[in-house]
Amino acid sequence: MMDSKTMLLPTCGFYFLLLFLRVAYGDISYSFPEEMKRGSVVGNVAKDLGLDRGALSNRRARIDTDGTEKRHCDINLNNGELIVADRIDREGLCGEKASCILKHELVLENPLELHRINLHILDINDNSPQFKEDLINIEIRESADRGARFVIEEAHDADVGQNSVQQYSLQNNDNFILAADGNTIELVLEKELDREKQEEINLLLTALDGGSPQRSGTVVIHVTVLDANDNAPVFSQAVYKASLPENSPVYTVVVTVSASDADEGVNGDVTYEFGHVTDDVKKIFSIDRKVGEIRVVGIVDYETTTSFEIRVKAKDGLGLSSYAKVIISITDVNDNAPVVSLKSLTNPIPEDTPPGTEVGIINVQDRDSETNRQVRCSIQQNVPFKLVPSIKNYYSLVTTGQLDRELESDYNITIIATDEGSPPLSSSKTVQLSVADINDNPPVFEEQSYSADVTENNKPGSTLCSVTARDPDWRQNGTVIYSLLPGEVNGAPVSSYLSVNGDTGVIHAVRLFDYEQFRSFKVHVTARDNGSPPLSSNVSVSVFVSDVNDNSPQILYPAPEGNSFMTELVPKAAHGGSLVSKVIAVDADSGQNAWLSYHIVKSTDPGLFTIGLHSGEIRTQRDISESDSMKQNLIVSVKDNGQPSLSATCSMYLLISDNLAEVPELKDISYEEKNSKLTSYLIIALVSVSTFFLTFIIIILGVRFCRRRKPRLLFDGAVAIPSAYLPPNYADVDGTGTLRSAYNYDAYLTTGSRTSDFKFVSSYNDNTLPADQTLRKSPSDFAEVFGDCDGSPEVGTCYI
Ligand SMILES: *[C@@H]1O[C@H](CO)[C@@H](O)[C@H](O)[C@H]1NC(C)=O
Ligand SMILES: *[C@@H]1O[C@H](CO)[C@@H](O)[C@H](O)[C@H]1NC(C)=O
Ligand SMILES: *[C@@H]1O[C@H](CO)[C@@H](O)[C@H](O)[C@H]1NC(C)=O
Repeated sequence: MMDSKTMLLPTCGFYFLLLFLRVAYGDISYSFPEEMKRGSVVGNVAKDLGLDRGALSNRRARIDTDGTEKRHCDINLNNGELIVADRIDREGLCGEKASCILKHELVLENPLELHRINLHILDINDNSPQFKEDLINIEIRESADRGARFVIEEAHDADVGQNSVQQYSLQNNDNFILAADGNTIELVLEKELDREKQEEINLLLTALDGGSPQRSGTVVIHVTVLDANDNAPVFSQAVYKASLPENSPVYTVVVTVSASDADEGVNGDVTYEFGHVTDDVKKIFSIDRKVGEIRVVGIVDYETTTSFEIRVKAKDGLGLSSYAKVIISITDVNDNAPVVSLKSLTNPIPEDTPPGTEVGIINVQDRDSETNRQVRCSIQQNVPFKLVPSIKNYYSLVTTGQLDRELESDYNITIIATDEGSPPLSSSKTVQLSVADINDNPPVFEEQSYSADVTENNKPGSTLCSVTARDPDWRQNGTVIYSLLPGEVNGAPVSSYLSVNGDTGVIHAVRLFDYEQFRSFKVHVTARDNGSPPLSSNVSVSVFVSDVNDNSPQILYPAPEGNSFMTELVPKAAHGGSLVSKVIAVDADSGQNAWLSYHIVKSTDPGLFTIGLHSGEIRTQRDISESDSMKQNLIVSVKDNGQPSLSATCSMYLLISDNLAEVPELKDISYEEKNSKLTSYLIIALVSVSTFFLTFIIIILGVRFCRRRKPRLLFDGAVAIPSAYLPPNYADVDGTGTLRSAYNYDAYLTTGSRTSDFKFVSSYNDNTLPADQTLRKSPSDFAEVFGDCDGSPEVGTCYI
């Protein structure tokens, strides 16, 4: 029995007959498909068991089930057929078991007989494959690699065997293929996804069974492509160009960059930042992270940088980035004033610099560009300098005129530079230039000439006057040194008369001056500066010596008292008023000091002779009578008019006689007076007498001649001494040849003294007195006079 069971074929159809054969041995088995109609005959049990038809009902044959199982088949007792009693659903009875066997028993009574009936329920394809859901949602990141597998839950078919799911098929699509391996089915990514192209994909998956007719089931696989950060942000432009004026205020927007990112969410969230830029750029510009605005945050200076090239980075949330270039060109604004700089300067410049000399080089810079850096340079008007454009932005500072340190020693030259921007900017520079001295000015005396008045007998060393010369040059070039020009005054070097203080120009007398020796003299003083070579100028200093009554009258004729025995002859027949002789005196002083007056202080016969107060002429007062003494003696005093007045006296011997031979005592007198010189005096006397006689005759002839002609001459019978015989230059050293008004000289000579007078006059023509003349005084005499006149204006004053 067991064997026959095992021999049962699991499948229907072909083995059907065999089954019947086996059942005949005891147990019987029937195979039939499920879902047969009720009453359908499965087999004939009576036949298969070899039972009589009648025996079935006799023996009360019936079908039992094991336990509580439901009875699916029944037996027709009449013909022994086994028929389907109820619906037999294989899937309901056996599920997924490959063989589905229902166990029934045929029970016969009398005798009790038990036959097992195995009912093999065969599957029919009555179920379609079925997916659990209609829609399967899958999310796949777009970054998923090719070959990635996604498991799909398989479809289920209640049928078994061939009737179960045999294959799947996937709707055609770009990205996926299907891989089925046994029970697992997988979607395999054949081509990468791109969310940005397709965010969702619907795939229809069909499951097919192997039954006939074939059944199928479908499911929609909804693939959602998840974003991956696979897109970098993209700038709208590769290069952004902007132009920005320099000095733009802070927060000025320069340019806005923008980048888009195809990704979504964080992946598409673009932020901006600078790429690698220098710190300088960071100080000047900032970029808004969100908006992409590039703004000014610092000082934009064209002169520092004319353009900026900034790399800007756009970054999405997960770090993909891209770059763009921003070129910001800065435009110039006239914000820089020109700068004037002094490159070289000759300072100081000598004042003899010829016009046109370059004294300095000036450079002008303007940091701006183009017209903003075009600079014009000018210089103020009132200076003898100009700017001469040189190469590029260099200028030469050139003199235009002759400089004169003495007029202007310093110049502040202001150079003004103006650019051509709008508005223009300008700046100025002051160049200080000093003019160096050149010894180009000689010392100049303040006066054309100087003169000094000094009274004679001055004190040696006394100040006469001072000269001053000015030299406007600088330092030693303007330092004046005074000196006397070498020369001679009256044959003596000037230095023996005067000295000049080299520093102060004060002129001192070196010795005392004698008016009678010279009334004035002239020296030349040189003022020399200390330059090299020195310059000098001369000035004349005239010294006028004024008179002091320091000379007594000097009686020339007759010889002074005691030294003379000069005798005049007076004719006995002389009438009253006849000129008999003349006292001749001179005074070396001048003016009042030399204004002489004559007096007879003592006479033998006081009534007989008179003397002209100023003429010195001795005349008879009355006719000579016989009773008059033959020898007459007169003492004459000559006084000058000075204060105090000085005087001199002399004796005059008059002999009233017509013949010299009548005078015996004459010899005696002369011997008494001066024996040693008797001879010479005699000769002089003789000559005098004869001269007087001759003169007398001439006078008489002249008187007669004049009476006839009229007018008469000045004196009766007297001789006027021609002016040519006067000593015109007496004591006059100034060489003018004119006598001063006060310089009156009464020098009338009697006829009898003419010869001696001639000698005298000739000796006076030398300007100085002969050394042996008594007019010359010894220094001690001067000292006396000086002592007497202490406090008197001995020092001459300079007058202009
Ligand atoms: C030049 O400028 C200086 C300084 O400002 C001043 O002391 C001087 O007097 C000026 N000289 C002239 C000639 O203006
Ligand atoms: C004086 O002048 C000379 C040229 O004549 C010059 O060389 C010198 O420097 C000047 N001295 C002074 C102190 O200016
Ligand atoms: C001053 O006088 C001297 C002598 O006569 C002469 O050599 C010199 O040239 C003169 N100087 C001037 C500046 O006239």
